[in-house]
Amino acid sequence: MKRTPPSAQIESGRLPTHVAMIMDGNGRWAAVRGKERLVGHRAGVDSVLRVVDWCREASIGYLTLYAFSTENWRRSAHEVSGLMRLMGLMLRTKVGLLRKRNVRLRVVGRRTDLSAALQRSIAAAERDTADGTGLQLILAISYGGRAEIAEAARRFACDVRDGKAEAEALSDDAFRRYLYAPDVPDPDLVIRTSGEFRLSNFLLWQCAYAELWVTPVLWPDFSKADLQAALAAYAARDRRMGGRRA
Ligand code: FPP
Repeated sequence: MKRTPPSAQIESGRLPTHVAMIMDGNGRWAAVRGKERLVGHRAGVDSVLRVVDWCREASIGYLTLYAFSTENWRRSAHEVSGLMRLMGLMLRTKVGLLRKRNVRLRVVGRRTDLSAALQRSIAAAERDTADGTGLQLILAISYGGRAEIAEAARRFACDVRDGKAEAEALSDDAFRRYLYAPDVPDPDLVIRTSGEFRLSNFLLWQCAYAELWVTPVLWPDFSKADLQAALAAYAARDRRMGGRRA
């Protein structure tokens, strides 16, 4: 297999506009150190902040991070509340840093599942970074691809009922407008850490033509070289999007 060295310069036209990441392996990272899972999640937040910087340096336009899935609610109450606390803390304490870096933060997912305090922190972080014109950082919190599609279908059905939309006129593009962040381009590249080869209900609609890249590296250990390797692999892919080879 031909390998591109991670440090290779990638032509800007071959860079993904939108990178989405499934941040897996925090629990295992903690377990190998004999620590509790939340220690891994804390290290995971540090990794998030590093990845944001590397994506800015690489001129990536959009970075979506799968922070908490609709299925993650099944974890122990201790782990769920710890994760919620960590996300709230990050939103409250890192917003200044994101602003300074011209990052616009957005959240997708079922917000009404979250505590009122966390919903307020999200709204404040979104408001305070709304004029960021650099990287768009999209956190998927209480997010599920199926839930997003079901919610979009429900809202479309209500519009039909209220005479605001026509059932027969629904196209892919018209349906997209009912998703959480319709203006965000589809992910070009999905990176998954810790070795599992699955999408786990992440951006199911949006990932129709995404390139997938999986690394055995655990999320807290994800390095700049790993990101560069993923970007180099992406640049070498032949994206036909269902068309024929040129
Ligand atoms: C998967 O690892 C990771 C999660 C379910 C949570 C990801 C959350 C963070 C990185 C921290 C919070 C994020 C933000 C944006 C503030 P796992 O626990 O499933 O690991 P395992 O498969 O090794 O058990």
